[in-house]
Amino acid sequence: MPSKRQILVTNALPYANAALHLGHILEYTQTDVWVRFQKMRGHECYYVSADDAHGTAIMLKADEKGISAEEHIAHMRAIHEADFRDFLIGVDNYHSTHSEENREFSELIYNRLKANDHIAQRSITQAFDPEKNLFLADRYVKGACPKCKADDQYGDNCEACGATYSPVDLINPISVISGATPIGKESVHYFFKLPEFTEFLKEWVSRGTVQKEVANKLGEWLDSGLQEWDISRDAPYFGFEIPDAPGKYFYVWLDAPIGYMASFKNLCDRDGLDFDHFWKKDSPTELYHFIGKDIVNFHALFWPAMLKSAEYRTPTKICVHGFVTVNGKKMSKSRGTFINARCYLDHLNPEYLRYYYASKLSGTIEDIDLNLEDFIQKVNSDLVGKVVNIASRCAKFIANGNDGVLSSTIENPELWAQVSGAADTIANHYENRDYGKAIREIMAQADAANEYIAAKEPWKLNKDESQQQSVQDICSLGINLFRLLLTYLKPVLPAMTEAGEAFLNDNLTWDSVKHPLVEHKINPFKPLMQRIEKERVDAMVEASKEDLAKETAKPISGPLADEPLADEIGFDDFIKVDLRVALIVSANHVEGADKLLQLNLDIGGEMRQVFSGIKSSYDPADLEGRLTVMVANLAPRKMRFGMSEGMVLAAADKQGIYLLEPDSGAQPGQRVT
Ligand code: MSP
Ligand code: ZN
Repeated sequence: MPSKRQILVTNALPYANAALHLGHILEYTQTDVWVRFQKMRGHECYYVSADDAHGTAIMLKADEKGISAEEHIAHMRAIHEADFRDFLIGVDNYHSTHSEENREFSELIYNRLKANDHIAQRSITQAFDPEKNLFLADRYVKGACPKCKADDQYGDNCEACGATYSPVDLINPISVISGATPIGKESVHYFFKLPEFTEFLKEWVSRGTVQKEVANKLGEWLDSGLQEWDISRDAPYFGFEIPDAPGKYFYVWLDAPIGYMASFKNLCDRDGLDFDHFWKKDSPTELYHFIGKDIVNFHALFWPAMLKSAEYRTPTKICVHGFVTVNGKKMSKSRGTFINARCYLDHLNPEYLRYYYASKLSGTIEDIDLNLEDFIQKVNSDLVGKVVNIASRCAKFIANGNDGVLSSTIENPELWAQVSGAADTIANHYENRDYGKAIREIMAQADAANEYIAAKEPWKLNKDESQQQSVQDICSLGINLFRLLLTYLKPVLPAMTEAGEAFLNDNLTWDSVKHPLVEHKINPFKPLMQRIEKERVDAMVEASKEDLAKETAKPISGPLADEPLADEIGFDDFIKVDLRVALIVSANHVEGADKLLQLNLDIGGEMRQVFSGIKSSYDPADLEGRLTVMVANLAPRKMRFGMSEGMVLAAADKQGIYLLEPDSGAQPGQRVT
């Protein structure tokens, strides 16, 4: 085992404007398992978290509820902390970014950036809501695209044609908050001079600080040129006022990662730890941030650059994970698969999900599918059927035959050596966050243990008076193998392990695998885990739908807008449009796009990529294999997400989107006239 490491670990701080859902729980489980593993190995490891309490969204949410922002975030924090506790997320400290520690560090870091000439200041024009007296972030303005006239587009780019623009350029813009027409208004903003850190970041990213896929993405951003980062917002804003800049506030994403330091400082003050030892430049300690793939730029560009300028240490690793899908699809409120953490807890044991997530995690940024059938099957067969079963089969013979004392010998030393010898391999998988591999290895060892017991049939031997010692020896090894498996599973299943430790009369550390328990008294066996009942899972899904029903019980408002007929054209004009039957070979979600799906179309031997604004009505999985009609000779358009090489045809209005489909028998590539 390597010498004692000092490690500080964080997860991404949840926003204080919403409850946690099963997507968050993936991240917090991943982090918690890693931390528990490090602690079990005897390392000095601290895990801190906090609520991310600042920003416009939180201010507006408090307004809507008619309470102060402080009341709102205190309430949310209590809810989040309860979710953490009940999912057995063993944080050493849970704090808030709206804290004195965070104010001090934010000011200190900002002052250092400024002293190092890394802050620029200039006036910019932004959309302003004259009714609410509020500057509007791009996502709070909607209107028609100035280029292609598509309706209902957000203030920064058009998902229909890919144009990028400023919200003040939208046609008939409205404030999403009040419905008022925004005006353009000037104000002074502060910027962090990120481009000056390009070379530093290139080097930093190449040092193994992020996974390969992430490094590649960052490489693209770094090569295409970084921009200065706007770190200020105008009042009214819920956050920290910028020193010497009355009415200007730090943008929430400036002080959010500083919240990691603030939470750790709070822990240091409570437990007498040395903060500077962990954060000083060239600190010998390790710093790990666990985050989702949507917030990589903040953690692997802005954050290390800020730390560098402010002369702190930079992170050892940014551990990025993918997104949770349920039954192969994006979590959906209407399907009941957008499941809140609390709703899950109301129906099911948290360790079922911890185990399932662990069995699916791989240390890459691939999405993780929570398939509810597979979830029931895997937990029941692995944990109940394989692991707990070993103990329940063997315990009664030890209790009855030898008063609960294990034998003095190991019946099959090779088998013991094999299962205990898996410890290093399993440890490596945990260290690399390849929990899925760790679980597969553990289950392979569980299979070996079960085969051994099945072959020895102690329940048969037990009927024979002369075989009593054999029964004791076999079942003692069975209990010892169970103890090894439980040790390996301890980071994932802390509560079940605790109950198992009480049964074994032993405290499990990673070193427990070195020696078996011999002539050791164990306690009466109690069932350690119940099977998952499908009815409970179904009830959870139903309850998640009910949550939705409450939220969306609003009538559809307003008449349908009549689309006037376009100008008349001749046949010559019409025939210029080359329409073709297209086979949808595959369809995918587009990261960062609210409305688009990416389609790969076969038009008779030629493949085309098309981005289409049909996401609100279609699941990619349902589209695959369908035929549709596309405009095949539309000039390719460069969109934010890639080239769009044509357009598929669909009827659309506010009620829905209906993709055109030829009668069956049509062939990809046939011309449509
Ligand atoms: N407040 C910021 C983080 C600030 S860190 C200094 C934030 N909050 S969040 O509540 O939106 O998300 C918290 C974490 O949960 C992020 O890492 C995010 O990627 C993760 N997830 C949110 N939804 C998720 C899924 N559906 N699946 C997996 N993780 C997801 O971002
Ligand atoms: Zn457009």
